[in-house]
Amino acid sequence: MTNLVTVGLQWGDEGKGKVVDCLAGGFDIVARFQGGSNAGHTVVVGDTTYKFRIMPSGVVQGKTAVIGNGVVVDLDVLIHEIEQLARSGIPVDLVLSERAHIITPLQIQVDGLIDEARGKNRVGTTRRGIGPTYGDKILRSGVRMIDLLNGDEDRWNAFFEYQRGRVERLFGSSVECHPHRTWLRLRQMAMTLRDSVADTGEFLVNATDSGKKVLFEGAQGTLLDIDHGTYPFVTSSNCVAAAASVGTGVPPSFLHDVLGVCKAYTTRVGAGPFPTELSDEMGEELRERGGERGTVTGRARRCGWLDLVALRYASRVNGVTALAVTKVDVLAGIRPLRVCVAYRINGEETTRFPADSRVLARVEPVLEDVEGWTPEEIEDWRSSSKAYDDLPGGLREYLALMAHHTRSRIALVSTGPARRDTVVVEGVLSSLTDASAL
Ligand code: IMP
Ligand code: MG
Repeated sequence: MTNLVTVGLQWGDEGKGKVVDCLAGGFDIVARFQGGSNAGHTVVVGDTTYKFRIMPSGVVQGKTAVIGNGVVVDLDVLIHEIEQLARSGIPVDLVLSERAHIITPLQIQVDGLIDEARGKNRVGTTRRGIGPTYGDKILRSGVRMIDLLNGDEDRWNAFFEYQRGRVERLFGSSVECHPHRTWLRLRQMAMTLRDSVADTGEFLVNATDSGKKVLFEGAQGTLLDIDHGTYPFVTSSNCVAAAASVGTGVPPSFLHDVLGVCKAYTTRVGAGPFPTELSDEMGEELRERGGERGTVTGRARRCGWLDLVALRYASRVNGVTALAVTKVDVLAGIRPLRVCVAYRINGEETTRFPADSRVLARVEPVLEDVEGWTPEEIEDWRSSSKAYDDLPGGLREYLALMAHHTRSRIALVSTGPARRDTVVVEGVLSSLTDASAL
């Protein structure tokens, strides 16, 4: 009995989709606990590339997929992904929370209106209705899966009028959808999923008690967390490990291990402070080499050096004991390679991660050169032993630096997009001892 939570330690896009796909073989159930179709997880299997926005990535391995109450669900996207998987010969065994809030077209419209109205202070959201849907949940005005199944159109009409009031009075716009037709469509989509709807906490507790193993998949990343991230340039959910409990309905004692996923460098999509950002040719080179474009919005990602201050902070917030480091191949041949070991604020050096985004925007990163590794070294390693101890020396030093700063151990290293470009270090996480997919 060992459940595992995987979380992103940066601003999302750490390569969680690939890591989860590699590990899912050792688990019975994969579960999403927060976020919605703002996420974009890419999984490459042979010649096929899967892109998920709401499905847990582990579904590709044929595992039972749980979508917890903490997820905000766009039914259009969910049904589309189920159909796509069925066409690829992967029938989905889905358990969807009856308590999950539904993203409606109204909230998608409001997402755009709010971010536009912010002008130069805009967050640069993915415009998938995430913020307004979580906002309505907290305001106790949302629509849940159970409401659609119960078929109470009067409640829906009250919700619609509240949204209409907001759009018209606050933004001077008019709503883009029709109340009754939208209701019929949402209700019809919900009904097609009704056999999958359940209490996800009950399901997961029973499964764990009967010896099944659960892999909880975080979306976005710690620095986008609504409480612990770079507020207000964050998403509207808790992305940290603890959210796996609240977001699915299992007690915290059911989260046994936490694996932090981080990229060997740093990226960010959307607005907000980014101390190690490279606005020069090196930033452009990282973007090109790493294919750093958003899965959901297609936006170019901002790129920069590895930030060990932020990484240490994120590891502490999550209680990470093990790291999965991705995209080390992208850095091959870059010399000198640099990492940020501290921030300088008003002439003073600190390793504390500031809570104020305006302060973070002004810090000067203290950078150190590290040796690096070459594409040839990675190629040699790939075609020979593929053991962790045989990784290029410069890369092992880099990984040791990451482990040291985060007080954790390296559990997995990804050297390319394919499953075979992965090395799992045995014995680091008890839940990974039988990660057999590799
Ligand atoms: P929202 O989640 O659409 O409200 O967007 C808020 C911020 O989080 C924006 O800067 C987005 O670019 C960012 N964001 C949301 N989801 C992801 C993700 O999955 N990866 C990376 N950035 C994300
Ligand atoms: Mg992504």
